[in-house]
Amino acid sequence: GDVRLWGGRFADGPAEALAKLSASVHFDWRLAPYDIAGSRAHARVLHKAGLLTADELTRMLTGLDRLEADVADGSFVGTIADEDVHTALERGLLERLGADLGGKLRAGRSRNDQVATLFRMYLRDHARVIGGLLAELQDALVGLAEAHPDVAMPGRTHLQHAQPVLFAHHVLAHVQSLSRDAERLRQWDQRTAVSPYGSGALAGSSLGLDPEAVAADLGFEHGSAGNSIDGTASRDFVAEFAFITAMIGVNLSRIAEEIIIWNTKEFSFVTLHDAFSTGSSIMPQKKNPDIAELARGKSGRLIGNLTGLMATLKALPLAYNRDLQEDKEPVFDSCDTLEVLLPAFTGMMATLTVNRERMEELAPAGFSLATDIAEWLVKQGVPFRVAHEVAGECVKECEQHGIELDQLTDEQFAKISAHLTPEVRTVLNVAGALASRDGRGGTAPSAVAVQLAEVKADLANQ
Ligand code: ARG
Repeated sequence: GDVRLWGGRFADGPAEALAKLSASVHFDWRLAPYDIAGSRAHARVLHKAGLLTADELTRMLTGLDRLEADVADGSFVGTIADEDVHTALERGLLERLGADLGGKLRAGRSRNDQVATLFRMYLRDHARVIGGLLAELQDALVGLAEAHPDVAMPGRTHLQHAQPVLFAHHVLAHVQSLSRDAERLRQWDQRTAVSPYGSGALAGSSLGLDPEAVAADLGFEHGSAGNSIDGTASRDFVAEFAFITAMIGVNLSRIAEEIIIWNTKEFSFVTLHDAFSTGSSIMPQKKNPDIAELARGKSGRLIGNLTGLMATLKALPLAYNRDLQEDKEPVFDSCDTLEVLLPAFTGMMATLTVNRERMEELAPAGFSLATDIAEWLVKQGVPFRVAHEVAGECVKECEQHGIELDQLTDEQFAKISAHLTPEVRTVLNVAGALASRDGRGGTAPSAVAVQLAEVKADLANQ
């Protein structure tokens, strides 16, 4: 028979071209377990409102259990003719319970409030999955920092040598941004803990159903929607989820770009584990950072999912419009993308080897201790404007002779400025430069140790 939920006023069935365009069952099928949970909760409020007898409720719940088992083992699947997951599951219920009882469940609900509710449930579950995978990456990065507490590296701005920093300090900077992403996911989860069920098509229900009971049943901590039009038509929860996943992608891409650069022959800062790198089909010597490159590439895809969704939502009038069916594929893709990317990325970061000698060889290069000369002069009472000038002269002198700052002779220092006594050499070494930056958030080993402890405590609470 006709499975459509809306056949009554139509003389003809849908054209095949329409059915093909309209179908979402091939991508919204993943909402099936949530749809069935929603149906159970809905059956209970129908009973509470006196619209299902106790016996009918029992048989309804048994039918839903059987349907759920058949969906789980694949013996019941939706088809294109079903249009969407909600219609397919209604057919499944009718087949199992007969039309008289099965046909009662639809009272007081619409696919509009159903889909808005189920989508929230699905994304909330996946926010937790992604949060868990993110925590594993944070752990791996913390482990990397902890395993190299005293390795110096060239800190860069504009990708140019700037000042030496601790490698652990640099790695923890990435952990900080990922921690904010994890926090965003938790805050989003709380904002999304509101159930649209009971909003009906847009105006609510006349049947005296209890949306708060459904909300509690389905695990929505903040109850049911305060406005049925907003409940069915708003998708900012989807857009925000898409933003958070895109932001995670962007943050991963920034780590990825560094790994790609660090892994070049010229840098040689890190070596990737064989299990987390790939070879070339023609060049036998190649060992490529494909995971990092895929992370960089997939961040573009995650951004695309966000912007595509925003374009779909822009200027949509209230309430539900079919355009909204376009909301699911982008964020399903964002979930799938991060759920395969994060474990690989974590594996890459957890297994890479740090080339300490190379990092430390380059840490003082590129005149990265020039600021230390200037700040040493300030401590001797020289105004910073003058100190900056004098340190710049030192760099110029080095460039002329092709040497580094610590290779300047006492005579050369004295010629540049009378303030530059031989004691300036005490700050012309990486260890001294690092140790001197011991204020909160600085790169001194003592300050980085404080940061590491804070980050670990945060992670334990996450
Ligand atoms: N499949 C639709 C969606 O994902 C829900 C069905 C609502 N359809 C309708 N004609 N009111 O948005």
